[in-house]
Amino acid sequence: MKITIIGTGYVGLVTGTCLAETGNDVLCIDIDKDKVDKMQKGIVPIYEPHLDVLFERNIEAGRLKFSTDLHQGLDHGDVIFLALPTPEDEDGSADLKYVLGVAKDIAEYITTYKVIVDKSTVPVGTAEKVRATIAKNAKTDFDVVSNPEFLREGFAVDDFLKPERIVIGSSSERARNIMQRLYNPFVRSGNPILMMDEKSAELTKYAANSFLATKITFMNEIANYCQKVGADVDKVRLGMGTDTRIGKRFLFPGIGYGGSCFPKDVKALHKSGNDINHSFKILEAVVDVNEHQKTILFPEILDYFDGDIKNKTIGIWGLAFKPETDDIREAPALYMIDKLLKAGAKIKVFDPEAMENVKSKYGDQLYYASDMYDALKDADALLICTEWSIFRTPDFEKLRELMNNRVIFDGRNLYDIEEIKNQKFTYRSVGRQFV
Ligand code: UDX
Repeated sequence: MKITIIGTGYVGLVTGTCLAETGNDVLCIDIDKDKVDKMQKGIVPIYEPHLDVLFERNIEAGRLKFSTDLHQGLDHGDVIFLALPTPEDEDGSADLKYVLGVAKDIAEYITTYKVIVDKSTVPVGTAEKVRATIAKNAKTDFDVVSNPEFLREGFAVDDFLKPERIVIGSSSERARNIMQRLYNPFVRSGNPILMMDEKSAELTKYAANSFLATKITFMNEIANYCQKVGADVDKVRLGMGTDTRIGKRFLFPGIGYGGSCFPKDVKALHKSGNDINHSFKILEAVVDVNEHQKTILFPEILDYFDGDIKNKTIGIWGLAFKPETDDIREAPALYMIDKLLKAGAKIKVFDPEAMENVKSKYGDQLYYASDMYDALKDADALLICTEWSIFRTPDFEKLRELMNNRVIFDGRNLYDIEEIKNQKFTYRSVGRQFV
């Protein structure tokens, strides 16, 4: 099939590349010329495991191309994916200016039947708005489909190639059949393609992300309570998670969720409820608790140093909002860096992938370590903000040699309490007792 992807952010790029992998002829459009130049040379503009291999293979095979020319893109695809940003407006709602802007261009330009697919996370009713915008000037038949993505950063390629489900929102039989054909190769294992109306599809995405954010937030509150009453959240988590109705995943407490999706989507769903007088009380609490969760380790650090961390050196492991990505959007590490800098601390940071992104934000205010141990040279404390695997089994003897103090503030509960006791470190984690 001939496919056009408009917008080569992480969703567009993964979608385009994976659709090329199943033999489609894919053209990706982006307004950023530098980025398009790079992609044409085979350079993947984001860090996403396995994407580079697929990228190279499909470019070489001539199935994956890039251009800045929107009209060329609108000519090319029988199916046109809109994978455009929907940034958070000041009031928390999703800003649709990019999506509706392109819809206007589509209306003026297309002359043959096209399926226009909303891949961006958009509020309920957007497909209808896109349809109305195109219909105003349309010279041909077209259909609008809502097809939300459920890709996790760091696992996006795997999630696309082996999805647990695909959601297609469309009232048109013709469009449904085309989408079914496009996605059939990805569901050979028997996972479902769920056909529904556009609004339900749009809401499915928000509901899924908000539910997951709520699940994490619930555990964060339980963890904070564990800390106060002397329980161990790891034990509680296992006790709860083995009930299949609850499930083991997304029960890990920490210093808050971040990223490009959860914070934005929870706020957008809350706001869209408010707009029609429907109060999502639970989501309001989720936003509040998550903001608070980012702050919980800072007072612990202050407390350890008797309220004064001026000129203390804090080594930070992990800056990305989660492992396997270089994305620092809404990362809890940024909150900690800001607080520590303000309090006069010196900061040495290390992250396997996110160093460049942090450097462009903080410049020479931080020391950028060459590896995880370099970040601990003469450090007065270690603070862990992201659970990269490489931090899970450190050489504790090396830590004892390098650091001025044997203290670890762990925002991701990486270590076994007994092990840390044996290693003779003072240890503060989330929802477990101090050592
Ligand atoms: C999420 C959804 O999972 C995905 O389906 C959607 O399409 C986009 O948003 P992503 O933001 O890439 O994906 O990351 P995810 O792995 O879901 O983690 C989100 C945040 O929750 C991270 O900050 C992570 O650290 C945090 N988290 C996750 C926890 O704090 N505890 C957990 O148990 C799980």
